[in-house]
Amino acid sequence: MNEEQRKAGTLDVLSRRNEKEKDYSKYFEHVYQPPSLKEAKKRGKEEVAYNRDFQIDEKYRGMGEGRTFLIKTYGCQMNAHDTEVMAGIFTALGYTPTEDVNVADVILLNTCAIRENAENKVFGEIGNLKHIKQERPDCLIGVCGCMSQEESVVNKILKSYQNVDMIFGTHNIHRLPQILEEAYLSKAMVVEVWSKEGDVIENLPKVRAGHIKAWVNIMYGCDKFCTYCIVPFTRGKERSRRPQDIIDEVRDLARQGYQEITLLGQNVNSYGKDLNDIEYGLGDLLEDISKIDIPRVRFTTSHPWDFTDRMIEVIAEGGNIVPHIHLPVQSGNNDVLKIMGRKYSRESYLDLVRRIKAAIPDVALTTDIIVGYPNETEAQFVETLTLYEEVGFEHAYTYLYSQRDGTPAAKMKDNVPTEVKKERLQRLNRLVGEYSTRALAQYEGQTVKVLCEGASKKDDEVLAGYTEKNKLVNFRAPKEVIGKIVEVKIVEAKQFSLNGEFVSVCEPALVTP
Ligand code: SAH
Ligand code: SF4
Ligand code: F3S
Repeated sequence: MNEEQRKAGTLDVLSRRNEKEKDYSKYFEHVYQPPSLKEAKKRGKEEVAYNRDFQIDEKYRGMGEGRTFLIKTYGCQMNAHDTEVMAGIFTALGYTPTEDVNVADVILLNTCAIRENAENKVFGEIGNLKHIKQERPDCLIGVCGCMSQEESVVNKILKSYQNVDMIFGTHNIHRLPQILEEAYLSKAMVVEVWSKEGDVIENLPKVRAGHIKAWVNIMYGCDKFCTYCIVPFTRGKERSRRPQDIIDEVRDLARQGYQEITLLGQNVNSYGKDLNDIEYGLGDLLEDISKIDIPRVRFTTSHPWDFTDRMIEVIAEGGNIVPHIHLPVQSGNNDVLKIMGRKYSRESYLDLVRRIKAAIPDVALTTDIIVGYPNETEAQFVETLTLYEEVGFEHAYTYLYSQRDGTPAAKMKDNVPTEVKKERLQRLNRLVGEYSTRALAQYEGQTVKVLCEGASKKDDEVLAGYTEKNKLVNFRAPKEVIGKIVEVKIVEAKQFSLNGEFVSVCEPALVTP
């Protein structure tokens, strides 16, 4: 399928604004087809096309001369990495970055749709930007990312946020030059959202946020359709990158001196399942990457359902794959897991944890939990607490269930009052706090390896970095150690971080090529 055909089934419109009219279609110069979650849900059989010939047309190259851009990121690591790609495109167009909304010539909000409060934050920010548009009408304001993939969001912006100049989604960020040009030429809001995913584009420019740690996409999309989750709708079907493309990118990052990479996907354990011509999964990829001379490799996120023994084996071999596994469990109760569509049980999750711990005794496990799923009972919630204790997670990200329109869970009636949900979340958070504090306390007196990232957020004189297991460590040392892995003796465990004394710089470990 080519780009034109793909767009035919999607929204590709230039809108005319009209505040009073609800039916915007008649004001559109082109076909009006709003982004459709229904369309986004479909999973076609067509093969994924890999495009390695992406080029920014020469005619756009000077577009950003003398202009600045600012991208605000609201979402997950993948969203943050999309920001790096867009920063790469802006830079290729001649724009320079700025941190100041009051001077930026283009402001993009790269949004997240995962929970309602994430969306509210973005609407608040679009509102805040109204005065910018009044004071500087030539400034372009754009909304992109996962929220743009929802028709309700697009409609709300069309109706109530006239200060927005362009809306585009997650599947067409490579069309940023064209979208910007349309926005400059037209007085109307430019809306271009593809409901269906496009090709995997390999050679997009990137300006990474740092020179020490880097994100590396290994796959896009999600086919799991957990009943509460909007991601399979906003990110399209699962598409794995070719192994060689990933390996080449990691080698290049190693050559540039990056010390840590994180392999990214919504469910990295599915990696390779769609590569029909080869038998190659995440275990194989981890093994190949462990041979590359980069000190630390992480991966996120792992769905417990298809975490294979082969993966455990490769991580257990040690090397550069860190012994930290983020393994979202969501709930400790079988009935809740079932209606969440998670495809594993409490027992099979605990069994997986047992196998991981047996093979990797010093592993650190962290998780995600949703509290207050529709009709969750007190007894079911307590099973989440007991599972937490049984596993002994070192940390967890905990969330109140948030209804996402278009997902199966949104149709469920819910008999749990918000106050009850909030109270449960507080109880869970107390437990999480206790376990996190305990996990940190055991480091007192130990010497740990820390990848120094720079000055600490609170004190310019203090340096900060993370251990292999992602514990934040603050210490004093010469600034030359920034970007290096150093040994630090832990003298004090705080609630969320460790304080230590610098010992020495670690010699780079030699990894056989
Ligand atoms: N792909 C990852 C999760 C990505 S979203 C995985 O499956 O592990 C990150 C977390 O947000 C999820 O693990 C879940 O805990 C939470 N989340 C997702 N949808 C949510 C919703 N509708 N309400 C509350 N939390 C949600
Ligand atoms: Fe959402 Fe489930 Fe996919 Fe994770 S695996 S992104 S929670 S649907
Ligand atoms: Fe949010 Fe989209 Fe990531 S919904 S969590 S930014 S994939």
